Amino acid sequence: MHKITLTRIAFGSALSVLASCTNLDGRDEVMPTQADGAIFFAANCSSCHGTDGRGKTVQAGRLAVAPPDLTALSADNKGAFPAARALSYIYGDPKNSHLARVMPQFGGAMAEDLVPVEIEGVLTPTPRELAGLLFYLESIQQ
Ligand code: HEC
Repeated sequence: MHKITLTRIAFGSALSVLASCTNLDGRDEVMPTQADGAIFFAANCSSCHGTDGRGKTVQAGRLAVAPPDLTALSADNKGAFPAARALSYIYGDPKNSHLARVMPQFGGAMAEDLVPVEIEGVLTPTPRELAGLLFYLESIQQ
């Protein structure tokens, strides 16, 4: 009985080492995943972009600008997922805004908890929710 418990503990910590990273404050912590991004997307984005990201929603029909099909971001960018562009748009960076800005900015609600994410070859401090969203959005590209 005692032995089984010890084995479980060892196995559990090996798994958490695999799924963790060192954050910018030097603390070890679990990185956000595609599943975290999916949950954030369902709560904050699906009303306009649809649960599948394709933008065919009732709300979309009421907006001055139609939400783009988020499963086609790579296809519209010569096959490469435009991570930096998508993230800065979601976050709300005005310098990178190439669109009409009908969509709300999400940066204000995110800023505090930063995790390191490799975006287009550069390790970039990224708000946790945005990192999860990046993995999720990349996973739904057609
Ligand atoms: C109120 C409706 C609405 C909500 C909520 C919304 N969006 Fe949008 N989104 C839009 C519209 C409309 C556009 C088209 C550009 C514009 O006018 O803002 C857009 C554009 C985008 C783009 C830019 C695509 C490109 O071509 O670069 C991305 C990426 C995106 N949305 C992702 C998200 C994510 C992720 C969320 C949730 C965190 C979200 N959106 C929430 C309406 C919305």
